[in-house]
Amino acid sequence: MAYADFYRRSITDRDAFWTEQAALIDWHKPFEQVCDYSNPPFARWFVGGQTNLCHNAVDRHAATHPDRNALIWVSTETSEEKIYSFGQLQAEVERMAAMLLDMGVKLGDRVLIYMPMIPEAAFAMLACVRIGALHSVVFGGFASHSLASRIDDAEPVVIVSADAGSRGGKVVPYKGLLDEAIQLAAHKPAQVLMVNRGLAPMPMTPGRDQDYAALRDKHLNDRVPCTWVDATHPSYTLYTSGTTGKPKGVQRDTGGYAVALASSMKNIFLGQPGETYFSTSDIGWVVGHSYIVYGPLIAGMATIMYEGLPTRPDAAVWWSLVEKYKVTSMFSAPTAVRVLKKQDPAALKRHDLSSLRALFLAGEPLDEPTASWISEALGRPIIDNYWQTETGWPILSLCNGIEPANSKFGSPGKAVYGYDVKLLDENTGEELTGANQKGVVAIEGPLPPGCMQTVWRDDARFVKTYWSSIPGRQVYSTFDWGIRDEDGYFFILGRTDDVINVAGHRLGTREIEESISSHPNVAEVAVVGVADNLKGQVAMAFAVLKDPSLAATPADALKLEGEIMKVVDGQLGAVARPSRVRFVTVLPKTRSGKLLRRALQAVCEGRDPGDLTTIEDPTALQQIKELVNG
Ligand code: PRX
Repeated sequence: MAYADFYRRSITDRDAFWTEQAALIDWHKPFEQVCDYSNPPFARWFVGGQTNLCHNAVDRHAATHPDRNALIWVSTETSEEKIYSFGQLQAEVERMAAMLLDMGVKLGDRVLIYMPMIPEAAFAMLACVRIGALHSVVFGGFASHSLASRIDDAEPVVIVSADAGSRGGKVVPYKGLLDEAIQLAAHKPAQVLMVNRGLAPMPMTPGRDQDYAALRDKHLNDRVPCTWVDATHPSYTLYTSGTTGKPKGVQRDTGGYAVALASSMKNIFLGQPGETYFSTSDIGWVVGHSYIVYGPLIAGMATIMYEGLPTRPDAAVWWSLVEKYKVTSMFSAPTAVRVLKKQDPAALKRHDLSSLRALFLAGEPLDEPTASWISEALGRPIIDNYWQTETGWPILSLCNGIEPANSKFGSPGKAVYGYDVKLLDENTGEELTGANQKGVVAIEGPLPPGCMQTVWRDDARFVKTYWSSIPGRQVYSTFDWGIRDEDGYFFILGRTDDVINVAGHRLGTREIEESISSHPNVAEVAVVGVADNLKGQVAMAFAVLKDPSLAATPADALKLEGEIMKVVDGQLGAVARPSRVRFVTVLPKTRSGKLLRRALQAVCEGRDPGDLTTIEDPTALQQIKELVNG
């Protein structure tokens, strides 16, 4: 069937379409209703059905192919490589599930996972969904304040963590940050399960902290069956940044997510059981959830979990893994490709990449030079796909299994089946149907299976944030600008809100501003995303000091800049550190006191700041221009 027909059916004959896709997973109890949209914008998928994510990802494959590779863990940080078959993975997950039960975790409880890229992180995620507990993975690059706010929002019964991660050969200790976060948080988890890798000191708090190895020994032979849960039972929450400083807990269901992932593995990512999938993301991000852990395993594929840099020991390391494990589908981000290109463009040629069907890239705009370079070097299709933490799987892509690869550079492709994607006028809410008109990328409800159910414990925020920003209509806003050409291909032009995208990591400028403002000498600060050749965007901060004399000389300014960066490192993590903190005497604002972010960003990028008739003090932008150009 041509893709156009496949797509059309997904919208016009929705229930029959998704009933077919639902056959890709195992159901303990069949569903009675495909989609309940009686209370928009809350969609309930596969109502009445019961299933389990871990059963679909692990047990059903362990039953038929126990010796097939399931999890291939490679750390170029500690020079380790471990392979778990589906049978071994199930045994480890059952042990972990037994430990969580032992620690008092019950159906619907939250377990916060703050871990480096080690197999135990995947065991913990799978163990949670096995027993119907919700995991909340916090990216290991986040520091104590970020972690504390997520602890308070998720209120976990147990936290699973490790002594340390490692990056570029440098140990990154976790335990100290975790202890500090628990101290900062109002909610105190009853217990903490610590994996000791022997990389950093791991002081244990008696009565609270448990050693993973010791507890594992105790539960070595325990069997923990999957708990069958309703399709609508939440499987996890994952925090993401938005316009306000407070991160949102994206809440996902069970049945819809399993079906969406199984379907995407077949129709988008071209995965077959017994093959190997390699996603270079981190389990702390949505790509890691959907396409390191759940998607490939649900499809019966082996998944590679990689700890390390793409350039260590050399720029050929990823391609050596593709050759060694005969990777058929690979998933990465444009930033990683740009890094590789800069390092050693010939690295690709040294390995046999004939197993690879396609390289999928997502998370940030794929620029033409990067796309051309990697496509030429690989000689394989490069498939850009566009989506969000909120959706959990692609909104725009080439659905290649159905339609021959026909990509246009710079475009993540067409609307993926199930998504009724529209471009809307930001002011009138009117649909823009002509070719090449710029509008807000929006999705008509119901969102397809697999997308967020709500904001964790905050239905009102879900409605207000996502479904109320376009005048005159209740439609889901992606907060991205886009255009669609005459062939139906979309082009994404950046965010409409204050979210920035640094090396594929989604960050809220407000969170960074709040952190910088906590420095005792900062009176006011503005953070904007500025285009960067390598990282796509970097965060740039402009601060007004309480006492400007503190930055009177260039040496003083540099010292203060370093101090402020340390504050951000300590509170949010180095991932959120601005590339520069510059000092000004006034920020560009309107007469009503609204910060002129777009003008500030334009000046930083050397563009025309546009209409400035409302600016309070024109010298504000002049100062910034001089700093940026000087
Ligand atoms: O602005 C879009 C950008 O990343 C945002 C979502 O980031 P996150 O929630 O971390 O999810 C990433 C999942 C891949 C989007 O709102 N973005 C994502 N993919 C693309 C993209 N921008 C352009 N092209 C893409 N392929």
